[in-house]
Amino acid sequence: MDLFDDLPPHPDSALLALAPGAVLLRGWARDADVALLQAVEAVIAQAPLRHMQTPGGYTMSVATTSCGALGWVSDPHGYRYAARDPHTDQPWPAMPDCLLTLAQAAAAEAGYANFQPEACLINQYVPGAKLSLHQDKDEKDLSAPIVSVSLGLSAVFLFGTPVRKDRPQRYRLVHGDVVVWGGQSRLAYHGVQPLEEGVHALLGRRRINLTFRSPRVHG
Ligand code: SIN
Ligand code: FE2
Repeated sequence: MDLFDDLPPHPDSALLALAPGAVLLRGWARDADVALLQAVEAVIAQAPLRHMQTPGGYTMSVATTSCGALGWVSDPHGYRYAARDPHTDQPWPAMPDCLLTLAQAAAAEAGYANFQPEACLINQYVPGAKLSLHQDKDEKDLSAPIVSVSLGLSAVFLFGTPVRKDRPQRYRLVHGDVVVWGGQSRLAYHGVQPLEEGVHALLGRRRINLTFRSPRVHG
């Protein structure tokens, strides 16, 4: 008999419930990391990372770009999804198959079948970059979840409820972690604390987060 037979499953592949409709799939994307990063770098080569302006007059510390039929855009007029990259005036690069496949599999694992994301927002954090507490509410189809994939340096992710004043929980997201939130948690407030200094073996001095979204209503 194997001495380790009675040990619980390896925590790196655990499914952790964060809130109703929200789960953390530990390490779910780790095996695909090299392919995912290659695909992301190819997108960035066509649609460069940039620091967008917010409607409030700030410049985001996180650098962003997108792939898919729609991309997320912020400027002094507001937040929205657009079919063209305002920086290049070209359509956003297509969503690479390996990204789409992973997002759909993670959504299904979390209980959301038939996830059809048309947008993947790519966020790059260097040490010090952060994302204030916010809701993802620019999407017309709130029945679809958000799928979030973390690569590179770890970060402290804040995840609350749809009520702003509720104190969020804190989770350390590491390379390969995937978070899926929908249902009762679809409009949960979330954010990222300032990234700590570090160097990741594959990505170097940065964290990349991919969020897959479904801005359109599906019939
Ligand atoms: C986001 O809220 O768009 C990104 C979250 C993250 O970077 O983990
Ligand atoms: Fe968000």
